[in-house]
Amino acid sequence: MHITRRRGWELPEALATPEAVFLSRRALLAGAAGIAALAAVPGRGLAQRVADLPDPTRDLYPVRRNEAFTLDRPVTDEAINNAYNNFYEFGSSKTVARAAQALRVRPWTVKIDGMVETPMELGIDDLVRRMPLEERLYRHRCVEAWSMAIPWSGFPLAKLVALARPLSSATHVEMQTFLDSTVASGQRQTWYPWPYTEGLTLAEATNDLAFLVTGAYGKPVSKQMGAPLRLAVPWKYGFKSIKSIVRFHFTDKRPKSFWEALQPAEYGFWANVNPKVPHPRWSQESEEDIGTKERRPTLLFNGYGEHVAHLYKGLEKERLWA
Ligand code: MTE
Repeated sequence: MHITRRRGWELPEALATPEAVFLSRRALLAGAAGIAALAAVPGRGLAQRVADLPDPTRDLYPVRRNEAFTLDRPVTDEAINNAYNNFYEFGSSKTVARAAQALRVRPWTVKIDGMVETPMELGIDDLVRRMPLEERLYRHRCVEAWSMAIPWSGFPLAKLVALARPLSSATHVEMQTFLDSTVASGQRQTWYPWPYTEGLTLAEATNDLAFLVTGAYGKPVSKQMGAPLRLAVPWKYGFKSIKSIVRFHFTDKRPKSFWEALQPAEYGFWANVNPKVPHPRWSQESEEDIGTKERRPTLLFNGYGEHVAHLYKGLEKERLWA
């Protein structure tokens, strides 16, 4: 993303990430023996030693592919995808993979709160194991006019919405990334409105295409791609696909996303892909495929119009495309 203006920001206390409160039951069972052994290793904090344990959901992958989602281009090479990322918590360049390894993804607690019947906190391993995992091949189009194609594993966001049981008055879900500047040096740059925040209407969130990613390329998703839980909404520009989520907050107000807060003239709430609507500083007519280096014409809704175009009927006066 390109930033032309910097502001100072105050972080309200209420937005601070809740402390991870517990290891999930399964992680505890799976990891108890390992923790006992690690506890004996001198000179390393327990949290770091827990983080060093193998991913407790590794046995779930690879998952069954859902053949309903096909591609018109080759899957991007895993090594390329893992080396070319946007993850501002770890820096504003594309080469954040090494820095992102500092992120501790266990224990990891996901909070569901706001306008729901029963607010809850879930350990990531419990959440992943109770969800119907599948693999989907999705296109991924960044607002910066590059693209990839990725075999994501995960489950429909609609399943999490069903678990949350939002009140009938809730209209949106706001999602937030972790907040920990001790591991994420980017979060020490106080002009950014941390934590990274994104939002969808409930109609978007319950559309079958909205997918919560737990894995990629047949294994748990890498840290630089947004472990342990990220969003994939492939009909929207990539900045909507928030990484490393810790909170789903149900609300009756339209959430203000990270990029909208930072640069409202360039990045709005809807951010649907449209080749005919240029970014204020560049064309969106075509994109560079990061894997093949080919330039491709960009597709309306990134090619997913049959799944999502109906969501925007009657909203034509909204700024749907940026
Ligand atoms: N989520 C968080 N928490 N922080 C970020 O900086 N960048 C966004 C999105 N999600 C970002 C994020 C942007 S701009 C894009 S294009 C995609 O993640 C990049 O995903 P990728 O690195 O897997 O290609």
